[in-house]
Amino acid sequence: MDNSPYSLEGKIILVTGASSGIGRVISRILDQSGARLILMGRNLEELTKTLESLDSNKEHLLALFDLKDLHEIKKWMNEFTFKHSIKLDGAVHSAGIQYTLPLRINDIDHYEEIIRINFKAGVALLQSMLNKKYANSTFSFIFISSVMGSVGEAGITAYAASKGAINSFVKSAALELAPRKARVNAIAPGFVVSEMSDDLFEKLTEEQRRKIIAKHPLGIGSSEDVAYGVVYLLSEAAKWITGTVLTVDGGYTCH
Ligand SMILES: NC(=O)c1ccc[n+]([C@@H]2O[C@H](COP(=O)([O-])OP(=O)(O)OC[C@H]3O[C@@H](n4cnc5c(N)ncnc54)[C@H](OP(=O)(O)O)[C@@H]3O)[C@@H](O)[C@H]2O)c1
Repeated sequence: MDNSPYSLEGKIILVTGASSGIGRVISRILDQSGARLILMGRNLEELTKTLESLDSNKEHLLALFDLKDLHEIKKWMNEFTFKHSIKLDGAVHSAGIQYTLPLRINDIDHYEEIIRINFKAGVALLQSMLNKKYANSTFSFIFISSVMGSVGEAGITAYAASKGAINSFVKSAALELAPRKARVNAIAPGFVVSEMSDDLFEKLTEEQRRKIIAKHPLGIGSSEDVAYGVVYLLSEAAKWITGTVLTVDGGYTCH
């Protein structure tokens, strides 16, 4: 048994967005830290790739679920935890979507769609974990936010709003859940290499790309940089940390 305060041995952690990018790397690093994982996403083939990269002895589980069905989340939690006789110790909401669209042509429905997945789905998961049948009362919940929740960039107003909502939500949720010692935090990454950032990069001009890279004094980050922060916030080492937004951005927001 690993006695390190950073160990996640024996903990059961739900990871949304586990089928791609940052969520996939978070899953790998949490697995290495000892956690048993529930890997959530919509794409079975990609989720299976994540599963196959992990230590199979920990009996990780797959959860095919579309988070846009907000009102089905509690039902899913009930059925899944009952079926597998498990209780969660934590969750990481890494699922997210983003479109780069100027305000002038950004359909108002895009705002609802982005806020639904990036923010409300995480809130609904957290709410379902308040039932002690599904999660231990001292759980740790982490939202993957973004530096865009606190600083601006043209073309991403809906995405920025969804991440800003997370950053303010965690503070009030932390206060509400502190009496039961449950913790709620967020991590705000700068630009890291992933499928999402590749899509965004493709739509930018060379000049815009150069500007983004130049804004990161330590260069563009990796998904591992984010994942190590997740391990910390889920672990006992962070038992006195709640309501924070941990910035992991290579210095992006120092400007
Ligand atoms: N990449 C960056 O530079 C960067 C920077 C700051 C913050 N972030 C944040 O980090 C998180 C992960 O980003 P990423 O770069 O890893 O993105 P990504 O590679 O595009 O992955 C997005 C994930 O979200 C899942 N997802 C999307 N819609 C879903 C839905 N309706 N139901 C269930 N799952 C859904 C996808 O799963 P399926 O396809 O299986 O449905 C996929 O696993 C996001 O919250 C993003 O905002 C990223």
